[in-house]
Amino acid sequence: MEERRPIRDALTSLENQINELEKAQREQIARLERIIEISRVLNSRLELQPLLQDIIRAASELTSTEVSSVLLLDSKSGDLFFEAATGIKKYEVERIAVPKESIAGWIVEHNEPVVINDVSQDTRWSQKVDEESGFVTRSIMGVPLFVKDRVIGALEVLNKRNEKPFTEDELNLLSTLASQAAVAIEKARLFQQSDQIADVVHELRTPLTSIVGYSKLLLTTQLDEKTTKQFVEVINREAMRLGGMVNDFLDLARLESGRARLTYVPVDMKKVIEETVAVIRPQAEERGLELLVDVPPTLPPITGDEKRMQQVMLNLASNAVKYNREGGSIRIVAEASEESLKIAVKDTGRGVRPEDMDKLFDKFRRIEESEGSAKGTGLGLPITKQLIELHEGEMQVTSEWGEGSTFAFTLPIAVKQE
Ligand SMILES: Nc1ncnc2c1ncn2[C@@H]1O[C@H](COP(=O)(O)OP(=O)(O)OP(=O)(O)O)[C@@H](O)[C@H]1O
Ligand SMILES: [Mg+2]
Repeated sequence: MEERRPIRDALTSLENQINELEKAQREQIARLERIIEISRVLNSRLELQPLLQDIIRAASELTSTEVSSVLLLDSKSGDLFFEAATGIKKYEVERIAVPKESIAGWIVEHNEPVVINDVSQDTRWSQKVDEESGFVTRSIMGVPLFVKDRVIGALEVLNKRNEKPFTEDELNLLSTLASQAAVAIEKARLFQQSDQIADVVHELRTPLTSIVGYSKLLLTTQLDEKTTKQFVEVINREAMRLGGMVNDFLDLARLESGRARLTYVPVDMKKVIEETVAVIRPQAEERGLELLVDVPPTLPPITGDEKRMQQVMLNLASNAVKYNREGGSIRIVAEASEESLKIAVKDTGRGVRPEDMDKLFDKFRRIEESEGSAKGTGLGLPITKQLIELHEGEMQVTSEWGEGSTFAFTLPIAVKQE
């Protein structure tokens, strides 16, 4: 009898071990089921904000944390922004950029996860974000969000409940969630963009409708000569407008993909300004706007594509006409320094609200109020910016809501070849 005891003990212990393993396995399966469930929800979301909310909720749930946040890289500025956060009021209302030296910045730069059970012990931790948000961080775990090889942001969870350290399992869960989340975010963004494309295609239909309508009238109705001429003029004008929109489309597509071919020669911007003024003056006069040109007698040449510079000037000047007010004015000012040339187009229009400033250069984006008052596709400024940057120049915009705006750019002055 006595010898059996150790065997019985061993059996019991084995049984316990098996039970433990089974329990762990059941938990693991439950978590995986939850992940599958979550990824199904994420995949069905087509709008970005609700999707981000789902992601942060899932992140906190899977890791038993108080708070979580999604930070996304802005493809244009390269800055990292809080796009969604649970529990931090300030980040729910404002889009705040986080410094590159922050932990999220580190994750994005290194494309690696971070697990810190006590932030006060980690040198990468800075007080700054806490100070800004009024939140106290104790522990943090974050993983990069990436699609293929491209990092698009970071997913972070903060303050583990019960003060326990983060486990390997939780890190794996967060990483799995992040890979699902990143794909869903990209999809939602593409969807947003296709929405914008639909808007533009819709815009293309407006001139097309006039063309079809008036030409049909011409074909089916006996009209006197004067009316006929009027209709043909409408058709011609709308066809030109349609052509312009299609060109803008193609232009931006080529600029963005780097397939645009530019011819660089010495360009006299004074001549370009004069040509722009010749085109714009009749439009300005028609709207009762004063057009002033303040350019020194000669300007040093820049190296550029003359047609493209013309396009830049026309885009800015036509906006200054379009978005001006009755009886307002437009000033075109040029100044040269040692190494650069600065050209500014100032208007006395309704200006741009501070919160709309960063939307100005988004393609297809038009600021709400302009939609009723002036026609456009929202491609002029993005094309202009791309062109200026291809010329190694820089765009600057200042605006005061209700007062007017200044759209300016600087270009490097051509260095004389010895
Ligand atoms: N000078 C300005 N004053 C106030 N708002 C402006 C000015 N220029 C541009 N905007 C705003 O920025 C938006 C984008 O300008 P952009 O030139 O890219 O497009 P658009 O003028 O609407 O169309 P497009 O130039 O393609 O015909 C405009 O819809 C308008 O709301
Ligand atoms: Mg425009």
